[in-house]
Amino acid sequence: MGALKTAKGVKMRSHYCTDLSSADIGKEVTLCGWVNSYRDHGGVIFLDLRDRTGLIQIVCDPADSKSSHEAASHVRDEYVLRIKGKVRARGEGLVNPRLKTGEIEVVADEVIVENPSETLPFVIGDESVNEDIRLKYRFLDLRNEKLQNIFKMRSKAAIAARNSLDKMGFIEFETPILTRATPEGARDYLVPSRVYPGQFYALPQSPQLFKQLLMCSGFDKYFQIAKCFRDEDLRADRQPEFTQIDCEMAFVEQEDVMNVFEGLAKNLLEETTGKKFGQFPRMTFAEAMRKYGNDKPDIRFGMEFVELNDLVKGKEFKIFDEAELVVGINVEGKADYTRKQIDELIDWVKRPQIGASGMVWVKFQEDGVLTSSVNKFYNEADLKAIAEKFNAQKGDLILIMSGDANKVRAQLSALRMELGNRLGLRKGNEFAPLWVVDFPLLEWDEESGRYHAMHHPFTSPKPEDIPLLETSPEKVRANAYDLVLNGNEIGGGSIRIYDKDLQSKMFALLGFSPEEAEAQFGFLMNAFRYGAPPHGGLAFGFDRLVAILDGNEVIRDYIAFPKNNSGRDVMIDAPSQIDEAQLVELNISIRK
Ligand code: AMO
Repeated sequence: MGALKTAKGVKMRSHYCTDLSSADIGKEVTLCGWVNSYRDHGGVIFLDLRDRTGLIQIVCDPADSKSSHEAASHVRDEYVLRIKGKVRARGEGLVNPRLKTGEIEVVADEVIVENPSETLPFVIGDESVNEDIRLKYRFLDLRNEKLQNIFKMRSKAAIAARNSLDKMGFIEFETPILTRATPEGARDYLVPSRVYPGQFYALPQSPQLFKQLLMCSGFDKYFQIAKCFRDEDLRADRQPEFTQIDCEMAFVEQEDVMNVFEGLAKNLLEETTGKKFGQFPRMTFAEAMRKYGNDKPDIRFGMEFVELNDLVKGKEFKIFDEAELVVGINVEGKADYTRKQIDELIDWVKRPQIGASGMVWVKFQEDGVLTSSVNKFYNEADLKAIAEKFNAQKGDLILIMSGDANKVRAQLSALRMELGNRLGLRKGNEFAPLWVVDFPLLEWDEESGRYHAMHHPFTSPKPEDIPLLETSPEKVRANAYDLVLNGNEIGGGSIRIYDKDLQSKMFALLGFSPEEAEAQFGFLMNAFRYGAPPHGGLAFGFDRLVAILDGNEVIRDYIAFPKNNSGRDVMIDAPSQIDEAQLVELNISIRK
């Protein structure tokens, strides 16, 4: 990055700290910033002054200026200073190669204390400090160089995305935050209305319906860097409020949308990583589930699932005989895992979060012998057949799980990801984008005993599957696509329904009565009555995208003021109780 010039007309400073170099020796400068560190070397005081660009050494020598030395003798860490002085070369042998400004220093003529600082509650950058303490003082934690760099990177990515969308003719919009509930899959955050007692706005889970309406209005290409709000179980990659780069286009088919946004994602990837990317690979949902047990597989490493039903059944091993699916992975070169290490893995999959009932192992030892935890049921030839199916080599360890097909795929997928982490196969500096396509339109929800839209209720079924809506709705595939990066869903979208009859049919399948559908989505059905174009789009999860580009999967550090992992803002202490008077005004009484 080039030098950061101070804005024209700004008089308080002449330069940022790291704008200065040997070329400036002899110049009179004024610098502003924080005391990063402080050293008193027998009468001469050395300060490291820090601003947004980095550090520079300031020398306060009474021989140069008595008053500046006197002022400097009272400063401590994190005081805010304005320094006037002259740039000079550091003495022989005193160059600090670790500092960008390590060849020079500024001899202070004047040290102005703009503001003192109390002792900080923690040392900036100390990652061993409890996260809630760092979040309580987020404004201090943000002084940390690592976080400063993150937000510079985030800003650059947002501006790059905005510029490329502008270049492609997308129009930037803002849509309402005070809106009404839409079924995007999570619970809504609600805002009570004072003017309409007993009525509530909902915060948008996404601008989905507004962007579709803008297509009906003829804008053709829409985008918004949009705040979305979802009350759902929190995870490292989820926040209650998060940002999407939300896009929609009219007169497009799935292929068009995927091409446009692959281009955008590729630009961002190439700019941030400096690497070149070819066409993103594609995989159907069915293949992703079969090979990885997951609709967002991390394809940076193999360990693909191998199904064993045809090999292991009928050998009197009841657990496998009764299982719907027996499936395993081959962990290359890990036959040397000790009994204790394998038992620990078995305990890991049996934890309630994973919920497996057990795990079988087969070792292909270096000496060529095959051993397993089920030797009683499977002889050498059986084990050999299993090893061959995995294409296992000497030294490999095969891990096998069994049970209900959907559950066992999810459990084995969790194990695969855990091993990927433990074995260092999920490398933060490698990037493997992947489109997952042909999602099912609907998924059956046991709890409510009805179908849910897998993406959202406005997603179009594949035209050739429409007849199946009547006979076997679970088999209908959607014109929906997710963009996956390193095992994380960083974007998702679909081609939309734009025919009011098909949309009504979809609402009916999802269990809405015609009256409920009219009450909740009357405006959309109305728009479809007056000439709605074919349309579709996609939204990127922007926080996730920047986190992953930075080699991380926890998104809290990529949001300036995030909630903690229990959904609280511990800095401003929200949510908070409100006054009785406000409750009365809103016509609300709190149930005890
Ligand atoms: P979807 O619900 O898949 O699609 O969301 C799009 C992307 O947003 C990100 N995301 C999140 N990021 C952080 N915290 C969360 N709680 C969170 N939830 C989702 C994910 C996801 O891929 N309206 C549709 C888009 C469309 O159809 O055009 C939508 O919102 O990266």
